[in-house]
Amino acid sequence: MGTQPTSLYERLGGIYSIATVVDDFIDRIMVDDRLNANPRVDDAHHRVLPPGFKYLVTEMVGEASGGPQRYTGRTMEDSHRDLRITPNEWEAFMDDLNQTLDKFGVAERERSELVAIVRSTRDAIVVPVL
Ligand code: HEM
Repeated sequence: MGTQPTSLYERLGGIYSIATVVDDFIDRIMVDDRLNANPRVDDAHHRVLPPGFKYLVTEMVGEASGGPQRYTGRTMEDSHRDLRITPNEWEAFMDDLNQTLDKFGVAERERSELVAIVRSTRDAIVVPVL
């Protein structure tokens, strides 16, 4: 019996589920004091409107998980360079992500694949420590 490989996109439940998770996650990071302690992040979080931000992240996760969406935003380097994000801020961001994945009870396999996708962007986002 052949088993069809199923994309992460399908296993997550498609774009409605992905958008719901992104919605919760972005609401969480926008008010995270550990991230807003960085004045550049705080400033950007007040300038960038959540719906557009959620839209772009949803597009990105859709594409990265094997869905039909195509990411239309800026590169991770271009959109984060000026924010000078530190390793500790990165950890806070991953903690917020885990809280969101807990809330929706995302299963272990899907969770680790999603976390791996996010983690693959780290070097483009976090400033190198000297
Ligand atoms: C500590 C980690 C992170 C922080 C504090 C952070 C914060 C921000 C902020 C403040 C912006 C708005 C920048 C601006 O327009 O001036 C932004 C843009 C964006 N971020 Fe992040 N980010 C982080 C990590 C990530 C990760 C891991 C992803 C995706 C895997 C991501 C996806 C995006 C996208 C798609 C945009 C919009 C790009 C565009 O405007 O075209 N971010 N981020």
